Amino acid sequence: MVSRVSRLPFLFFLTGLASFAVFQAWSLADVSAWLAAFSEEPRYPSGWSRAHLFVLGWATMIAMGAVYQLVPVVLQNRQLFSRKLGYAQYAVFATGFAGLVAGFRAADVKTVGLFASVVFAGILLFAFNIGATLIAANAWNSVTAGCAAAVFHLVMAGAAGMLMGLNFAFEWWGAFHDRLLGAHLWFGAAGWFGFLITSFSYKLLPMFHLSHGHPETLQRFVAGFLLTGVWTGALSFLLNAPAWCHWIALSCTAAAFVLYAVHLAQIHRFRHKPMPGAGIRWSRHLAIGIATVTALLVPLSAAFPDAVLGTRMAVIIGWLYLWGWVGGTILAYLSKIIPFLWWTHKYGSRAGREKVPTMAEMIDDRKVNALLSAIVASLFVLVAGFGWNSPLLQTLGGTLLAAGSLFYAGLLAAVFAK
Ligand code: HEM
Repeated sequence: MVSRVSRLPFLFFLTGLASFAVFQAWSLADVSAWLAAFSEEPRYPSGWSRAHLFVLGWATMIAMGAVYQLVPVVLQNRQLFSRKLGYAQYAVFATGFAGLVAGFRAADVKTVGLFASVVFAGILLFAFNIGATLIAANAWNSVTAGCAAAVFHLVMAGAAGMLMGLNFAFEWWGAFHDRLLGAHLWFGAAGWFGFLITSFSYKLLPMFHLSHGHPETLQRFVAGFLLTGVWTGALSFLLNAPAWCHWIALSCTAAAFVLYAVHLAQIHRFRHKPMPGAGIRWSRHLAIGIATVTALLVPLSAAFPDAVLGTRMAVIIGWLYLWGWVGGTILAYLSKIIPFLWWTHKYGSRAGREKVPTMAEMIDDRKVNALLSAIVASLFVLVAGFGWNSPLLQTLGGTLLAAGSLFYAGLLAAVFAK
């Protein structure tokens, strides 16, 4: 099962890990300067470059690998529509994101416009391949429908991103550019990553917890609230709607995350494996974390709308959401997924016939836990530094975060040498 699709996801995982390492090394190289500049005004060439190295080169690259791996499994070993197209899509997407990141870094608007279109082409190929696989299988459940919704929102985020990239080069849209940015963020951050992480968790958590018979009703409510939140949020920006529309979008998204955290607790209650490993435990903690943060933002933004919409708060929310929940959950799941896939790929057919390492020996779970704890703690120090405008805390948190992340990437990469 695994060996048939294994190389394609591994290509995405390895590239994603390499981007992650580059992001962290780049942060370490000039940590205080970039964090101070980013907290004041994130919209500048180096900020865009780093943001996309993180969201496209790392998080989306890993997420695409996970989709290529998990979709055939969820569809009971049905083949992908086209594995060859998967490799071609990898080449287009990797070229596009690398060019986009370089174009942002060099503040070269023509390069940004060109490679924004190439990344979008890579996203369209991905959507076509996965869409054709899902439609041919016609086996809809909360995992496959959530995956389809995620990929659709990635296309929407990419379309808005490409339009902004072209606007950098040709200045076609005028003030509409800023409205596109709001929609871009809703589609990318909440739509793509929100749908993907929630729906894949419905497969991964029961699998690693050995949970059976848990109620699944909440999954529909999570999807409903998330969809309403994303579209209310995106349209509020596109149509320049009043503040209360943005607040409704936030409230719906918060409701989705709270119900998601409650649902993970249900899955946990029905578990047959008490110790599923640190990665799975952390994915639940992080879900509770993002549910708490978004739920707190609902009354806060009603009481102090200006403070919540300010740049500093947007930076804090962006880091907590994209680094904390999205990045943290991906890191946590990778500590289970990479050892599982690599063991199956390398030793699966030899197990039982000769002496092979056990799955538990592929990665040290105590190190996973220690490093994830260090990463989360440093993120809090960094965010406190943003909140208090303290360069010392920003530098301390940013340095620890980058160093801890590099060690973690090394721990994951070392699995491939086992
Ligand atoms: C085809 C793919 C994409 C392209 C071409 C693209 C392009 C762009 C452009 C041109 C901007 C700058 C807008 C401005 O500030 O005026 C931007 C900002 C941003 N994009 Fe994307 N994007 C893509 C995918 C994504 C995805 C999937 C995410 C996921 C969340 C994302 C997250 C962001 C963030 C956080 C910013 C703000 C960064 C900052 O202000 O420093 N992008 N994007």
